Amino acid sequence: MPIINLERCTRCLRCVNDCPAGAITIETGEIADTCIQCGHCVAICPEMAVKPDFGDVFLLQPYTVTPKDFRNLTSGIRSCRSFLSKDIQDSVLLQLVDNMKHYPSASNARPLQITVVRSKEKVKLLNDLTEEALIRMFSLISSPWVSPFLRIFVPSVNISKIRRYKNNFIERKKENDSQICYHAPAVLLFHGEVSKTGMAEADANIWAAYTSIYANSMGLGTCFNGFIVKAMGKRSKLNPLFKIPSDHQVYASLLVGYPKVKFRNEASRQSPVVVFL
Ligand SMILES: Cc1cc2nc3c(=O)[nH]c(=O)nc-3n(C[C@H](O)[C@H](O)[C@H](O)COP(=O)(O)O)c2cc1C
Repeated sequence: MPIINLERCTRCLRCVNDCPAGAITIETGEIADTCIQCGHCVAICPEMAVKPDFGDVFLLQPYTVTPKDFRNLTSGIRSCRSFLSKDIQDSVLLQLVDNMKHYPSASNARPLQITVVRSKEKVKLLNDLTEEALIRMFSLISSPWVSPFLRIFVPSVNISKIRRYKNNFIERKKENDSQICYHAPAVLLFHGEVSKTGMAEADANIWAAYTSIYANSMGLGTCFNGFIVKAMGKRSKLNPLFKIPSDHQVYASLLVGYPKVKFRNEASRQSPVVVFL
């Protein structure tokens, strides 16, 4: 819990007014246990009179990213599916993980843990087991026993497309030994406790998205991987092999590595439909 130093405090009330939990009684300097430890009181205080629950307070550094820079950066970030066989130093991977403390989290719950798969053997294992799990899943869905029921009860599922996907996977497996992980030198798994009420999945995708942007700003390439997320679902047999705790689920996965390809052109894509009210 943050601590308010009432001797330094000038009662400007910035912290009181900005607290999302309405947890601060400035007269006594008390912070109620409804506090979500978001640190806004620490961040907003012009006197640095609020001490965070751990560590120190530092002045924010001015940033120099203009809207044009951000637009150019994001338009140049494409999914990377071709990586150099160059390892990423642990210090760089740790830098990516360390910065996650700045990313938003529902109710500031921060429920995620990160597993970095970065040995060649483990990445290969993850690739092969994910591939097997997907082929099994596609085979089941498109089987003559299951597909008639799906056609009736879940008409939106396109069985013939899934069958084509499965066949394509099996075909490509023969000549591509890394069709899931693309020989990425590191795979980040964002996982958290399975919960009906939490929003770990949203947090995981936001953290993975920010990480992708940060990694690209460092000259790395990234690719989200939904196949791994599907294969490492709740109580998946893969999870213990990658030391994912038994009550956790993988909610997002990001391949990271130094890119072999360089994109030169911006390909036009449609912006989403927008409705102003
Ligand atoms: C949630 C999510 C899951 C994805 N899963 C995969 C995947 O399993 N394999 C893959 O090669 N690309 C995957 N992608 C990448 C998309 O195919 C890619 O973002 C899309 O084709 C647009 O291309 P771009 O990222 O180069 O702009 C995923 C993207 C997202 C956002």
